[in-house]
Amino acid sequence: MERNLLWWQKGIVYQIYPRSFQDSDRDGIGDLAGILRRLNYVADLGVDAIWLSPVYPSPMADFGYDVADYVDIHPIFGTMADFERLLDEIHRRGLKLIIDLVPNHSSSEHAWFKESRSSRDNSKRDWYIWRDPAPDGGPPNNWLSFFGGPAWTQDEATGQYYLHQFVKEQPELNFRHPEVLPAMLDIMRFWMDKGVDGFRIDVIWLMAKDEALRDEPANANWDGVNPHESLLHIHTQNLPEVHGLIRAMRQVIDEYDERVMIGEIYLPNEQLATYYGEDGDECHLPFNFQLIDVEWDAQVVGQAIEAYEACLPQGAWPNWVLGNHDRPRVSTRAGADQARVAKMLLLTLRGTPTIYYGDEIGMENVDVPPEYVQDPPAVLQPEIAHAIGRDPVRTPMQWDASQYAGFTTAADGPWLPLADDYETVNVAKEREDPHSMLAMVRLLVHLRRAEPALHGGSYTAVTSNVDEVLAYVRRHAAGDSFLIVLNFGDENQELDLNAIEGLATIVLSTNMDRAGRVDLASLYLLGNEGLILRLSG
Ligand code: NOJ
Ligand code: MG
Repeated sequence: MERNLLWWQKGIVYQIYPRSFQDSDRDGIGDLAGILRRLNYVADLGVDAIWLSPVYPSPMADFGYDVADYVDIHPIFGTMADFERLLDEIHRRGLKLIIDLVPNHSSSEHAWFKESRSSRDNSKRDWYIWRDPAPDGGPPNNWLSFFGGPAWTQDEATGQYYLHQFVKEQPELNFRHPEVLPAMLDIMRFWMDKGVDGFRIDVIWLMAKDEALRDEPANANWDGVNPHESLLHIHTQNLPEVHGLIRAMRQVIDEYDERVMIGEIYLPNEQLATYYGEDGDECHLPFNFQLIDVEWDAQVVGQAIEAYEACLPQGAWPNWVLGNHDRPRVSTRAGADQARVAKMLLLTLRGTPTIYYGDEIGMENVDVPPEYVQDPPAVLQPEIAHAIGRDPVRTPMQWDASQYAGFTTAADGPWLPLADDYETVNVAKEREDPHSMLAMVRLLVHLRRAEPALHGGSYTAVTSNVDEVLAYVRRHAAGDSFLIVLNFGDENQELDLNAIEGLATIVLSTNMDRAGRVDLASLYLLGNEGLILRLSG
């Protein structure tokens, strides 16, 4: 019998960046009605849940991650009624909706901050982090913003500085003030009462900062590129106090049935693992971004998988992310030749996979000419825009070969430029082609859903004679076992899998041109090819 897994364990998450999925009102920006129009596409892909990046009212200083009202919808995206309609239709299709929650900072336009900045004795003053200038009039300490410059801005009204680790329009909330956490917990209840199925919580590992605001030490290993990395963030990230905040949020999640809490956390394995909580009472899924950062090499990836598996606490459910709205797209990072192998990896590993919109059709990073650059870190630090700018991974979804790729019919076109390749890389075209990336991802998703070994089974690495090949077996008592072999190199290889022999059946190849029985003693892989084989007996 298959052990009963929860939907977020068994399922696959699909991230939608709402500004870029589908425009419906011809303003060149994606919206909720647009997502509704494309919902059947998402359902047909076979994924289980949508994670929607923020759609709250926002001045868009960080494209929605600057929230001006946590309990409403930005008119750019639609109305609360549109949101409720979308949620209904998502549920009607048997899908779940996870929304983004951004508790670490609000917009400077949030009513809370407007009050807070108005005077030193306002009752919301300490809802944010204010300090007097240093003796020389400069910022209170050396903390830096991720997006460039100091993490402090002086406010004219009172002469004090406030903390912001992103743009200055994102003041950080002070979770040491007793009223702030309860306010955030009520916001969670508000959305769960509406029926949302969980939250992806923005920069959850930054929510607590050193109370004494001590300077951060220099990072001796800094590569000289991104100034934010010139310091070691020991007083602004991963503080022990953050776990209490997360436990409180999880308790609210647990007031409801089967909701999920996903935490955005960029930390090495040992530290990441602590975000499950000592008794599994923190995040259900602390996002595991290793596949995003790892060197694309079979041995390195294999070791990363082993190391992660080895760190997971008892009862913790793993997860894997191949792309998101902040990091280079996988087709660009690993290379177009490896894009299919990467997806086969993501969708055959043990643990919940997250797919970033457009990756399923092979969208690439788009070169955004300087005059179109909009992402704040790139605007603020043009000299390193190429390294840190996120516009290239947020371009409009490529639906078809018509003008603006079917994303919008706005007279002025979409808010970010379209990829040059949209006439060939698009949903309509790939739907017609049984060998397309989209066709392959769809089959992968459906296979993973259907097979207990793939969505719920164990992971065992398999050694082979070829360094460029990653091989592993997924097993489950309730069904067949599967051998996955992935060629990270571009040369053809004959495999000797040592421990594994006998007959097997190819159920999916990345090129979608092989099937049937093979003898594992004479298994070969083409360059850049991946195979899923059903093992007999
Ligand atoms: C992480 C989000 O993913 C990113 O897009 C955003 O800029 C920062 N947090 C600040 O909210
Ligand atoms: Mg629109």
